[in-house]
Amino acid sequence: MIEKVKKYFYELCKDKHFSWIPHVESTVKYAKQLAQQLGADEEIVEISAWLHDIRKIHNKDTTKNVHHIQGSETAGELLTEWGYDAAKIEKVKECILTHSSDKTYPPKTLESKVLASADALSHFDNFPLMVNSAYRHVKPDEVNKWLLDKYARTFDKMMPEAKEIAQPKYEAIKLLLGEQD
Ligand SMILES: [Fe+2]
Ligand SMILES: [Fe+2]
Repeated sequence: MIEKVKKYFYELCKDKHFSWIPHVESTVKYAKQLAQQLGADEEIVEISAWLHDIRKIHNKDTTKNVHHIQGSETAGELLTEWGYDAAKIEKVKECILTHSSDKTYPPKTLESKVLASADALSHFDNFPLMVNSAYRHVKPDEVNKWLLDKYARTFDKMMPEAKEIAQPKYEAIKLLLGEQD
């Protein structure tokens, strides 16, 4: 099933923004690492990680604030079509539904928390992508502040084990951006 999901993901990324592949590959890497460390279900978190942003990748403008809700539904439909176990599908859907910062759907299960933290951790692997994104969002003289705020929020939402992994990179980013402690 994992191979099927990966194939679907890479097909979906053809002709899409270049940032999706590094973002999702890094999310998968950390999801598996945290799952091993914490005893979460590795298969569930890996499948959820590959599929977590599929609706945002597919159509980033119209699904921006609901991509977790729509993505959960789409992932459920795909996995059902591919004959995946019904109970496991529910777990994957729950992870995708709760991975964003939407307070209506906070992560509750261990697998959901792992995915949300892995998603956040990936931003520490992909600093240049975040800088690129900053220049598209705000004026040049506001870029450092935008990035510092973004990284502070991202760091805050992670589980302690993920914070530990991110810490050295977070310190380096703050140093680069000139935050005074
Ligand atoms: Fe997302
Ligand atoms: Fe993501």
